[in-house]
Amino acid sequence: MLVGADADPDDVRVPAPTRRTLLGAGLASVSVAAGLTACDAEAPAADTTPSPSPSGAVATDSASPSASAAATAPTIPDFDETDWESVRAQFPLDPAMAQFAAFVLSPHTAQVDAAIDFHRGRLALDTEGTLLEGFDLENAVRRAAADHSGGTAGQYALTDSTTMGIASMYGGLALSADDEVLSTTHDFFSTEDSLRLLTQRTGAQVTRVTLYDQPWEANVDEMVSRLVAGLTRRTKVVAVTWVHSSTGVRLPIKEISEAIDGRALLCVDGVHGFAAVDVDLPDLGCDFLSAGTHKWLFGPRGTGILWGRDWDPLTELIPSFSGPDEGARLSPGGYHAFEHRWALDQGFAFHQKVGRAAAVQRTVEQASRLKEGLTGAQGIRVVTPADPEVSAGIVCLDVEGLPPGNGVYELRQRGIVASATPYQRSYLRLGPSIVTTPEQVDTAVEAVAGLV
Ligand SMILES: Cc1ncc(COP(=O)(O)O)c(C=O)c1O
Repeated sequence: MLVGADADPDDVRVPAPTRRTLLGAGLASVSVAAGLTACDAEAPAADTTPSPSPSGAVATDSASPSASAAATAPTIPDFDETDWESVRAQFPLDPAMAQFAAFVLSPHTAQVDAAIDFHRGRLALDTEGTLLEGFDLENAVRRAAADHSGGTAGQYALTDSTTMGIASMYGGLALSADDEVLSTTHDFFSTEDSLRLLTQRTGAQVTRVTLYDQPWEANVDEMVSRLVAGLTRRTKVVAVTWVHSSTGVRLPIKEISEAIDGRALLCVDGVHGFAAVDVDLPDLGCDFLSAGTHKWLFGPRGTGILWGRDWDPLTELIPSFSGPDEGARLSPGGYHAFEHRWALDQGFAFHQKVGRAAAVQRTVEQASRLKEGLTGAQGIRVVTPADPEVSAGIVCLDVEGLPPGNGVYELRQRGIVASATPYQRSYLRLGPSIVTTPEQVDTAVEAVAGLV
């Protein structure tokens, strides 16, 4: 029980830890998590079972070194970033299969796995001692995010997924029943349902516009003008998705932000554009953007970022354990799988070593090759626009007479891993990336054409 010197001795309530009691003056490098674990000082002594060290060695001495005395950095495997085969070899994926669904959930790189192993080993050796470094490790991740995607470290909140960031974005807005949110008919369930909850909570109305009739005909001017036509005097928020996982269409976020011109906050589900489009987030012009870092970045599974230009409009949905300021405040608290969260800096480092521009170019080149290869093929409709200005890595296909799930199964028999879009109107979906090759794209073209 936490009882201050001037506490009423009859008041047996446990005071909620304030940020001040958690952080303490001058304890900026001590994690909030440490503040919480300090409450457990009278907990029974830890089991003395030997734990593996980060290097894999087993410590048998009961006076084994604390985590802070152990190795201070993971051993990062080297690779040749100028050689795509060397880049691909960093993934543990089955080489017998062409992995066109790797973007759905990150197959970790060796670099990310090394960092996870390192943090896991330290947590195993001295959980409490390692948690003391939590603030510093989270700050290192925020700095790595800013190095990779622009802006400042403070503009990045850490989440566990795109969905957690989306919920924090729409759940943290102060709206009233007089306000409107302008959204679209193309968004993923995470946005749809967060907006439903926002309406339930605030009474604000959500209106939706359709930005294109046929995805393959989507273009910048029409998408911008259809969206802007939906703005009213009451619109306080515009809620959109950067790259539609239903069709592969990429929205012109910058042009949309220019057209909105500050009349409403622009909030974006950015997951299929993040690390798949070569742009710094501040240059997009939006106000908030949520993205899992376990898709196109190939960071640790169960990690993501919420980027905010200015955090003032958002109240925390979940109490933060990360600190009271900027992105730390909007990082949902509770203990996490910290070895994954702290390894995210190596996810950014890997992608930066490859080069964000080079990785995006490799992805787009293959996506274009796939679309070109299948355009005009009998019984195949390439659903995603050919123009890279309104598309990214996702390529959606309609195969005449074949349910997408059956297409996924058939392609797997031919050594190609694909997915089906999880929407009412479903398509067969392939996502070329840095783990696939142009030769595999050619094989996929043949295999898809053979499905008819
Ligand atoms: C557009 C879009 N947003 C959000 C998500 C969910 O992402 P996460 O699993 O990171 O919450 C998905 C699907 O994976 C998606 O396609």
